[in-house]
Amino acid sequence: MIKINGLSKKYNGLLAIDNLTLTVPERSIFGYVGPNGAGKSTTINILTGMILPTEGEVKLLGYDLRKDSIEIKKRIGVILEVLNLFEGLTGEEHLRFVGKVYKIDKNILEKRIKETLDFFDLTSAKDRLIETYSQGMKKKLAFASAIIHKPKILLMDEPFENVDPISRKKIKDILNKFRNNGSTILITSHSLVEVEDFCDEVAIINKGEIVFQSATKDIRHKIKNEITQETYQSLEEIFIDLTTEKEDKEKTLSWL
Ligand SMILES: Nc1ncnc2c1ncn2[C@@H]1O[C@H](COP(=O)(O)OP(=O)(O)OP(=O)(O)O)[C@@H](O)[C@H]1O
Ligand SMILES: [Mg+2]
Repeated sequence: MIKINGLSKKYNGLLAIDNLTLTVPERSIFGYVGPNGAGKSTTINILTGMILPTEGEVKLLGYDLRKDSIEIKKRIGVILEVLNLFEGLTGEEHLRFVGKVYKIDKNILEKRIKETLDFFDLTSAKDRLIETYSQGMKKKLAFASAIIHKPKILLMDEPFENVDPISRKKIKDILNKFRNNGSTILITSHSLVEVEDFCDEVAIINKGEIVFQSATKDIRHKIKNEITQETYQSLEEIFIDLTTEKEDKEKTLSWL
């Protein structure tokens, strides 16, 4: 459902994405992980049409990102690293505005807004300006805004960051529901335990390149050492092994 082929992105000479090829299968929750600065947000920003790629081909739901960006935008739900909420609106106004942009029928929209605010425990804050919300409340509202039009693809940069455990579980339940209804979900996260537990598949990006991809259920069977046939015990172990330079493994602070 998401097909990326030979994608590169340069920011003023800095190669952030380097000839990246990746397929995210339909009806899956796909974890996209990697160190700070690896290129995760850059990839998401390209997929959402926020920034243009330098090279490469991207297709979502069969639509070409360069040619059919409007068709794509109608069918995706997005949380970017910077939330981009209209903070001068109240939470309820924000959801109504987003719903109108997607041309959701008025009665259906009002029902969805009420239920969604209640689900995310935001009803008591619905008439407050978003600029007065806590970080977690803003994230929940951003999530609600991203799903209100029932998108076929969800692209979410750190959807769980700043969110309390109860809301985390709720977000996971909703994402599972979307997946079970046939949607494709791409999330970034630094919580590797959570990704291993929650996602169907994972890819590790390092310095703009994919260095590992697997179904999460197969991770503990991956061979770590060909000679001893030792296997990896967790996604964290694979991540650190594949993304840490040898000399960095020995670094410390000598003054401590
Ligand atoms: N607007 C920009 N202008 C110039 N360089 C940028 C810009 N955005 C990102 N970069 C650079 O591109 C590289 C990839 O950044 P990106 O934000 O995609 O990383 P990330 O994997 O999302 O990291 P994090 O885990 O910290 O969110 C980094 O070297 C970053 O400094
Ligand atoms: Mg990022």
